[in-house]
Amino acid sequence: MAHCAEPNSKWTDVSGFSDEYIERLAFYGQSSLALEDLAAGDPDGAAFVADYRSISGLEVRDSFVPYGAAAFFTENQKLVRIERSGKSFHPGNAGWAHAKFAWKATMGTYITLVDHLVGCHFMVANNICLAAYSKLPCDHPIRQYLKPFTYRSVLINLKACETLIPVNSMFHRASALTAKGIDQAFPAAFQLATNFRSFPDLIKDKGPKIQQLMKEDKYPFGTDGCKLHEILLKFTTSYVETLYPSDQQVVDDVHIQDFWKMILEKLDIQKAQYDWKPTCTTRAELASLLTQHVFIVSGYHELFGTIAELVNNREACGLKIRPGQEEVDPQALLQNSVILALTSLRMPMLCSDFSHLWDAEVKGAWMTCLDDLSALSKDINKRNTTRRFPCDAFNPEFLECSISV
Ligand SMILES: [Fe+2]
Repeated sequence: MAHCAEPNSKWTDVSGFSDEYIERLAFYGQSSLALEDLAAGDPDGAAFVADYRSISGLEVRDSFVPYGAAAFFTENQKLVRIERSGKSFHPGNAGWAHAKFAWKATMGTYITLVDHLVGCHFMVANNICLAAYSKLPCDHPIRQYLKPFTYRSVLINLKACETLIPVNSMFHRASALTAKGIDQAFPAAFQLATNFRSFPDLIKDKGPKIQQLMKEDKYPFGTDGCKLHEILLKFTTSYVETLYPSDQQVVDDVHIQDFWKMILEKLDIQKAQYDWKPTCTTRAELASLLTQHVFIVSGYHELFGTIAELVNNREACGLKIRPGQEEVDPQALLQNSVILALTSLRMPMLCSDFSHLWDAEVKGAWMTCLDDLSALSKDINKRNTTRRFPCDAFNPEFLECSISV
């Protein structure tokens, strides 16, 4: 365990067996991405749902039961119901503890498979690297800009391909999936992952109740995430506009057009989720794409990839579900800890001086960005003292500059 990464947030203030733990995950933790507004008229007065039933069809081995569960919460963030396999479970009733465990294990599996492995590593980091290294010459300024944010990404993704993707890999063993389930899981994850969607747009679409939570600082994923995205966009826009004094110059850069098209082709299987133009026509579009990449490999990757607080104890999430099970079993705890220990390699911190990598134009913009990131970190630390639960999901002081295993 000494080799496991230290969690950014300590979750010792709430028991992993409690209803509050799930409330914390949904509103102040890793399940915030799944949280959505619920239409009026819910029988239990629920206003929000964190629904992971989309992976219920993945085939699981004998002695396990399928994934899939949805947790329902009131406007006051109180957990009131879990739905699973077509049945409803309520606090205190028979099956409640198992339903909670099943939701947590489904969530742990979903964020590992969809939001982390496929979303961060293979959809965003891998496609950006492929397109940059294939289509941008070594001395292209956008390739230079990408240098710290793609640091070791190719090697990391190759390692992930060997150790976490194949049948009989660590992820397969730690999950409940059959070999067929693994074959089903990765294509499904590419359909489900939303990581290339612009983060502010994704948050806007979550509905008015979540916007209200953000105004009350009860949904830090949205509040802090939008602030981090805004800072990174300011930095990237400043650089892109220095580099290209007009939109026409972006249109005329054949390397950027090839870079853009290659990413679009790679995302073809999920075309429906995106409204990308076939060519990059403005500086704003280019800045938006580049910003989303940095945001995902630093912010999302830290949130969904550094999950020691969730898998390092028997109360928490786990990655597989046995019939009636209410806590992580010793075998699963050991498997989770081995994965954690072998995937705890740190990359350089995001808040670093990358001057040695960049020309003067980028350096100046980055120094301003560092000041902005430092201010955001102070703001989050202050807000965390009054929030129901502290949340460091997008706290720049914990973020790394590129994906890690
Ligand atoms: Fe990772």
